Amino acid sequence: MTAPGLPGRKVSLTGIKPTSLPHLGNYLGAIRPALALKESHETRYFIADYHALTTLKTPGTIREHVYDVAATWVACGLDAEQTLLYRQSDVPEVFELMWVLACIVATGQLERGHAYKDAVAQGDAPNAGVFNYPLLMAADILLYDADVVPVGRDQLQHIELTRDLAERLNYLTEAPVVTVPQVELTEGPLVLGLDGRKMSKSYGNALPLFASEKDLKAGVMRIKTGSEPLEAPKDPEGTVLWNLYCHVTTEDEQAHLRARLLAGGFGWGHAKVELLAALEAVLGPMRPRFHALRADEPALDRLLVAGAQRARPIARQTLDRLRTAFKL
Ligand code: TRP
Repeated sequence: MTAPGLPGRKVSLTGIKPTSLPHLGNYLGAIRPALALKESHETRYFIADYHALTTLKTPGTIREHVYDVAATWVACGLDAEQTLLYRQSDVPEVFELMWVLACIVATGQLERGHAYKDAVAQGDAPNAGVFNYPLLMAADILLYDADVVPVGRDQLQHIELTRDLAERLNYLTEAPVVTVPQVELTEGPLVLGLDGRKMSKSYGNALPLFASEKDLKAGVMRIKTGSEPLEAPKDPEGTVLWNLYCHVTTEDEQAHLRARLLAGGFGWGHAKVELLAALEAVLGPMRPRFHALRADEPALDRLLVAGAQRARPIARQTLDRLRTAFKL
């Protein structure tokens, strides 16, 4: 069942925080690049629900988002038989490693954490979960022998801390108990939202990933464009429409549409029709898969629990190595 660790194949681990239903920007910027790693890596993915608890406290909310995320990633092509997909809270071993890490990290290192420092600077009183967030993340990574962690820029500090703690653990135990992970920046090119800023849930400018074709169309029609007359030549460079179009088409298709816009006699409205068709070609086949998966929560639970059953022995092995090395 588990893709056997082929020699020379590095293990990559991706953690997904279940805080919302993923949108088109999440797909193009993070999900698609993370899934592409399966060509070159043994991929492992998990849903970091205990990390979400630092901010989401309403009972049931996180669970809903776990289902949203699991159904989205599987609909987008994650093969849960071939790779590992599990829910963080189904493998509580992570807290045992987190404790060990807590005993070797300096509190000053955590005080310098971006999220914690920003919260304090803004006069908030962050909870200790925010303070310890980087430790839980380091434990996630080290527990599963990740060689590479594909992340966006905002996570670099966390990976640096993880590397530091891994080296310190190996030094203290005088044994290579954990793998020191490499950073792999997998941020694809920026995905622009309807208003021209980065597509983000918090800006309210995101296109949905699996809404009906009708709603997708309504979103595309809301994209701001120039107001040149139909005959005018139009340069698409730098526009939201062009940014999105380039994410979902080949270079040939892009050259073709650019030529038509530059020639004049072709309006932004026409270009929107092309964009909608290109988006639909990518999202259309995934949409029914998502809705079928999302409608069956017990099946998603079974899938995640099966993943955890395969993840657990890996976690156990790491902890056994650690206990042996520390002679606990
Ligand atoms: N902190 C990550 C984020 O906000 C999520 C995450 C938790 C993670 N544990 C991880 C990512 C381990 C990579 C590896 O996106």
